[in-house]
Amino acid sequence: MKIIVDNIHVHISGVKILNGVSLEVGEGEVVGLIGRNGAGKTTTLKTIMGLIRPTEGSIYIERDGSTIDVGRMKPYKIARLGVTLVPQGRFIFPDLTVIENLEVAYGGVPPDDLLEDIFRYFPELKKIRDRKGIHLSGGEQQMLAIARALVMKPRIILLDEPLEGLAPKIVASVRRIINGIKSEGLGILITEAGNIKRIQDLVDRVYGIDRGEIIYSGDVEGIMKDVDARRRIWGF
Ligand SMILES: Nc1ncnc2c1ncn2[C@@H]1O[C@H](COP(=O)(O)OP(=O)(O)O)[C@@H](O)[C@H]1O
Ligand SMILES: [Mg+2]
Repeated sequence: MKIIVDNIHVHISGVKILNGVSLEVGEGEVVGLIGRNGAGKTTTLKTIMGLIRPTEGSIYIERDGSTIDVGRMKPYKIARLGVTLVPQGRFIFPDLTVIENLEVAYGGVPPDDLLEDIFRYFPELKKIRDRKGIHLSGGEQQMLAIARALVMKPRIILLDEPLEGLAPKIVASVRRIINGIKSEGLGILITEAGNIKRIQDLVDRVYGIDRGEIIYSGDVEGIMKDVDARRRIWGF
C-alpha cells in the first residue's frame, strides 16, 4: 500500500495553509516530514486522514493493485483502508485506563492475540494496563498513543511529532518501537519540528516543508547540506 499526496492546497478560514504539497509514503519505509512550527506538518497529516478537505489536488491510496481517490473520503473510511493518525499532543483519555483506551480505539474488547502482539512492543504498558491515562508519564502516554493506533491494524501510520517533549531516554525507547513497527512491514510518516538529530537514523528519506510548500525531497544528509532548505527550516 502507498499514500500519494498530489499537489494539495488547503485553506483555513480563507487563509492559504498548504500551497501544493506532494509527497508519497509506502509500506515498509519511514519517511520524515521536517519543518519549523507553523510550516504545515499537522495540516498535511490531517488532510491525508480526511479531517481537512483540500481545495485543490487530491490524495490517493494505492492498494491491492488499484488506486483509490480518498481526497473527499470520510476519515473513518480512510482509516479502514489502513491509515491511522497518532495526533500531536497524544490525546489519550485521561480518565480511562490503558486497556480502556485501547478498547475505545478498537471499538470493543480487542482479541487476546492482538493485545499480546501490541504488548510485545510495549512491555511497559502491559505492567500498567489498569492505570488511568492521567497518571501516565509523557513517555507512557506517547507509547499508549502509538499502541492505540496499532490496535486498528494500520498499514501506514502517521506520527505527528511523537518525540516532542520527551526525555532522551524515552526518545530512545520510542525510536526502538518505530524501528520495530517498520520491521513488521508497516509504513510510517513522522513529523519533526527541526531537531533532525532525533530522527536522522530512523528515516529512509525526508521531505522539508516551509510555509505550506515542500522545499526538499531526498535523503536526510542532503537536507542538512541544502542551503535553501537549511535557511528555511533552521534559519541559517
Ligand atoms: N484551525 C486553524 N485555524 C487557523 N489557522 C490554523 C489552523 N490550523 C493551523 N493553522 C495555521 O496553519 C499553519 C500551519 O499549521 P500546522 O499545520 O499546525 O503547522 P505545524 O504542524 O508544521 O506546526 C500555521 O500558520 C497555523 O497557524
Ligand atoms: Mg504540528
